[in-house]
Amino acid sequence: MTRTYKIALIPGDGTGPEVAREATKVANAAATGAGFKLEFAEFDFGARRYLETGETLPDSAIGEFKKFDAMFLGAIGHPDVKPGILETGILLKIRFALDQYINLRPVKLYPNVETPLRDKGPEHIDFVVIRENTGGIYTGHGGATRVGTTEEIATQLMVYDRRTVDRCLKFAFELKKKRYALDLKYSAKPITLVHKRNVLTHCGDLWYRAFEEMGSNQYPEIKRDYNHVDAANMWFVKNPEWFDVAVTENLFGDIITDLGAMIQGGLGVAAGGNINPEGISMFEPMGGSAPKYAGQNVINPMAAIGAVMMMLDSLGESQSAHAIEAAMMVTMKKMKSQAAGKMGYSTTEVGDMVAGSV
Ligand code: IPM
Ligand code: MN
Repeated sequence: MTRTYKIALIPGDGTGPEVAREATKVANAAATGAGFKLEFAEFDFGARRYLETGETLPDSAIGEFKKFDAMFLGAIGHPDVKPGILETGILLKIRFALDQYINLRPVKLYPNVETPLRDKGPEHIDFVVIRENTGGIYTGHGGATRVGTTEEIATQLMVYDRRTVDRCLKFAFELKKKRYALDLKYSAKPITLVHKRNVLTHCGDLWYRAFEEMGSNQYPEIKRDYNHVDAANMWFVKNPEWFDVAVTENLFGDIITDLGAMIQGGLGVAAGGNINPEGISMFEPMGGSAPKYAGQNVINPMAAIGAVMMMLDSLGESQSAHAIEAAMMVTMKKMKSQAAGKMGYSTTEVGDMVAGSV
């Protein structure tokens, strides 16, 4: 029997369907080469369905998703829909309901990809951010009273419990251990906890003690470092080569991974995974729906292809993931730029080139 993986595909809004098409093209080419099969089932969740029916993502869909091996999301967001509705109703709902508690964001600069950091090249920018993906301020604890008056009060709480912190740190240390074994260029570098424990003394202290305890008890060979989040921003720009694995809470992770995306060459190339190590994970390009480029065949599918590479890796098909990465690098060498409309090729041409050299 051929190995077969069932993938739930949500092409979504804007340029989502265009990049998802190229990503599935590349994934299928890799699968054919390696002798396994991918079965994609498409779901139409997104702006169009919401505008027609008022429905974002029914609870029944979560039950459906559980029958799949992995999920792939093109993009969510539309100018005709008030910000927040689709994001919370679809993306965050999936993250929470499927307990995708890790947001994995490789920050890797490939050869011939432009970075805004002068004097930095692929040898300097090759790290991974692990963002806790279900806790913190994103849990939505808080509220507002006296709304609309001059005495209005609003709160939004950063909520963490030890279990949530520990399971995230565990994932980060295990990934660091793998990279440690892989190459001296990684093993010489520490795992870095990013927080703001000089001000957020309760949550910061919980993260820091958990990090120190787990590190010293279970991973004594791995060097540990700590950065306040504001300083981490500076170092990402000034000394990105200091980082190998950085782990942080949800909101700080949201913020620093966009900076990470920029230094690795922009939203055209940045990919991420919403991971439940014990369950179903969802992979996505970071670029969003980019409405102004939709339907023109000019958006860069590289981020989506990177996301599909991560998906195959998480399914255990690491050889195919490597083959895709190699094909991406060959293609990136030929491209003029990784920016939408400036690639020197169309969306479909870039997809064809990667698929053709997988
Ligand atoms: C991300 C996005 C989401 C987040 C939004 C769209 C809800 O910015 O995946 O980083 O804040 O997590
Ligand atoms: Mn974000």
